[in-house]
Amino acid sequence: MMLEGRVCIVTGSARGIGLSIAETFAKEGAIVVVTDVRADLIESSVKEIVSKGGKAVGIAANVAESVQVGALVTRVVEELGRIDVLVNNAGVTRDALLVRMSEADWDFVLDVNLKGAFLMSQAVAKVMMKQRSGKIVNISSVVGLMGNAGQANYSASKAGLIGLTKSAAKELGGRGVCVNAVAPGFIETEMTASLSEESRRAFLENIPLKRAGQPSDVASAALFLASAAGDYITGQVIGVNGGLYM
Ligand code: NAI
Repeated sequence: MMLEGRVCIVTGSARGIGLSIAETFAKEGAIVVVTDVRADLIESSVKEIVSKGGKAVGIAANVAESVQVGALVTRVVEELGRIDVLVNNAGVTRDALLVRMSEADWDFVLDVNLKGAFLMSQAVAKVMMKQRSGKIVNISSVVGLMGNAGQANYSASKAGLIGLTKSAAKELGGRGVCVNAVAPGFIETEMTASLSEESRRAFLENIPLKRAGQPSDVASAALFLASAAGDYITGQVIGVNGGLYM
């Protein structure tokens, strides 16, 4: 068991990659906090984990709202006593070409993807610094490294997460807290299900492994970084992209 008894918060874990991370961590003995803005989906995700013998609790929260983030972290510490791992996975897209992008769509994506990770990291870091241990894993994206037409807001948020990762790694390293990022490529989830056949084909043509990734591929990298296997790794970005970007 790679995470026996560890308290792990995974944001945006009611579905998709976040749920896969939560399931993978629970299988490795973690006590997982399933948190998501979609309160309606949390219960079934928690039940799914518990039905397989895992330990999980569900708490609804919007990561872009500091009051909700504060309440979430306080409740986890009160009920579970500590926080060993935070995975900042919650993310959204509002795609449009730069010249047509609305200010509201820019703000929305930056607020959830980047400010959300900042607020969660800040609240959890205080707990981890006192413990003198912890792991923070930020789910960035290949487009944060290479850019993508139609995703100026999303790419900027994911590139910003890499800067946040490295700065936090430098600040928290002395307190035994490791901060890393995983940058997935093209992963089959509801987020990518809406892509046109054409852009799907264009992506696949450029992937050396010639297939899309699965949420479990991202979960494996997150598990590695969250576990003792990643104890001497901080400030790094691990690509999980089938070779799409090297
Ligand atoms: P998804 O849309 O299936 O899941 C995202 C989850 O985040 C949803 O459950 C959603 O309700 C939750 N969420 C959204 N806003 C939130 C908020 N304000 N507070 C709390 N939870 C919130 O997306 P998917 O594909 O599972 O993506 C997960 C992460 O992986 C995201 O950060 C995404 O940007 C990233 N990613 C996904 C890739 C893909 O190909 N699917 C590729 C690269 C990165």
